[in-house]
Amino acid sequence: MSWLAGLEERARAVLPAHVFDYVATGSGGNATRDEAADAWRAVRLAPHVLRDVTSVSLATTLLGHEYAVPWGVAPTSAQREVHAGGEPAMLRATAAAGALTVVSSNAGTRFADLPDGPWWLQVYVPADRTLAEPLLHAAVEAGASALVLTVDTPVVARKPTESSFWELADPQWLRVNFDEGYDDRPGAEKATDLGPHDLGWLAGVSGLPVVAKGVLRPDDARRCVDAGAAAVWVSNHGGRQLDRALPTALALPAVVDAVDGATQVYVDGGIRSGLDVVAALALGADAAFLGRPPVWALAEGEAAVARLHAELAVEVTEALTLAGCRTPADVRGIAAFPATP
Ligand SMILES: Cc1cc2nc3c(=O)[nH]c(=O)nc-3n(C[C@H](O)[C@H](O)[C@H](O)COP(=O)(O)O)c2cc1C
Repeated sequence: MSWLAGLEERARAVLPAHVFDYVATGSGGNATRDEAADAWRAVRLAPHVLRDVTSVSLATTLLGHEYAVPWGVAPTSAQREVHAGGEPAMLRATAAAGALTVVSSNAGTRFADLPDGPWWLQVYVPADRTLAEPLLHAAVEAGASALVLTVDTPVVARKPTESSFWELADPQWLRVNFDEGYDDRPGAEKATDLGPHDLGWLAGVSGLPVVAKGVLRPDDARRCVDAGAAAVWVSNHGGRQLDRALPTALALPAVVDAVDGATQVYVDGGIRSGLDVVAALALGADAAFLGRPPVWALAEGEAAVARLHAELAVEVTEALTLAGCRTPADVRGIAAFPATP
């Protein structure tokens, strides 16, 4: 088994059961969580040959900034419950690899205490929009360079193995970017009336580009683009929201078609290897994001997060070379299967 493929079982061995289960769980019967990785493995590639691949570069531009690699770390909550190094360790190791980190608004570290390195803030919008403003201003002040609005969470889906986490988690590492008593205020619950106009509202309050995360349908992707989204992020929240939502590998091609180059398209869900990253690029994504694998790596410490990026870089470089592609952009369109749904 490869080092990457062993991440989950090594994390199971070192994490307290309530933390491992919190990270692992999906919603409902876990159908969406369980199908994600298989859907990427079903993608088949039609490699180019007789092309000069003497030098291969993984460099990728996301929202106008260059990164060394075409993948990043998706937002995951409460990383300090997983390892004392928490979000700072994740960001440091990821930045050292030249990759982007998306920090959850449910981070266990104050934004002001994050180390240097490129990061975007993931946001949930509360029913009373004004309650979100201090968090947004704190993130801008601390150096967030974009916002990622999670659009698939009008309510948080129930998860079979989550409850013991909330009973056993150390409260000092939860919701540290919210004021004391925030959750008891009227209007602090998640907005159930989120609309495309909220993208513009967030951009106006923060002055940052806003990415819509959690899109699975081409018509919704288009609505996001028309409302000024800086990018569309295909995601089913790692199978943690609507169970039986379709795998992102199947949703991606139609979203890419609908967006038609108007913005970038990102994808997450079940990306577990360099070949999965390449499959995502081949189906038209500009970048792939990983949720659970960096958290499993963090369970082993900051050095393991660094190794995760190094292993992915080896795998993606090899796959590009074998596919006759010198850059991530060259990979677009070489997927032979599945065809667009
Ligand atoms: C433990 C955990 C916490 C998460 N927290 C958030 C979050 O705070 N905000 C968010 O938008 N998505 C969150 N997600 C979803 C991830 O950003 C991402 O969409 C998903 O994990 C990708 O699937 P993967 O885990 O198969 O890579 C979380 C996922 C996990 C596993």
